[in-house]
Amino acid sequence: MTKILLSVHVLAAILTVGPVTVAASMFPAVARRGDAAALRTLHRICRVYAALGIVVPVFGLATAGSLGVLGDAWLITSIALTAAAAGVLVLLLLPRQARVLADGPPDRSLPVWTGTFNLLWAVVTVLMIVRPGSTTGA
Ligand code: HEM
Repeated sequence: MTKILLSVHVLAAILTVGPVTVAASMFPAVARRGDAAALRTLHRICRVYAALGIVVPVFGLATAGSLGVLGDAWLITSIALTAAAAGVLVLLLLPRQARVLADGPPDRSLPVWTGTFNLLWAVVTVLMIVRPGSTTGA
């Protein structure tokens, strides 16, 4: 059972966080080029895949429950960093993209928040693999 939960968790991370990362990273350059149609598509990818990304923590928590590691420090840290990444995405990144789309002024903080989001989830991924302090598994 744990293997199924973990497979869905990792698959969801690849298929949802991946597209958000690529689309969000392309957004500032496309905005500078002024290609409105491409910009709308990139924003839509970010929004839709951010919503689908809820599968990642849901199955992450299910995997953790099944493994009995919910109290582990590496996991609690990962949960906090995942929450921070989601917060940056939903509260800072998506609204700023929407404002640029609505013909707002160029937003110079956009690349900074995109980088912050990418960095946060990259750290979470390494934590998931290294699991510092964990005595279970390899
Ligand atoms: C609430 C957030 C999350 C929880 C509770 C969670 C939980 C877990 C758990 C329990 C495992 C199994 C570790 C083991 O085999 O002992 C795992 C593995 C993994 N998680 Fe997460 N996770 C979360 C968020 C994320 C995010 C945001 C990503 C990446 C975008 C991610 C990527 C991975 C990967 C790649 C593995 C496989 C690591 C391996 O087996 O070597 N997780 N996660």
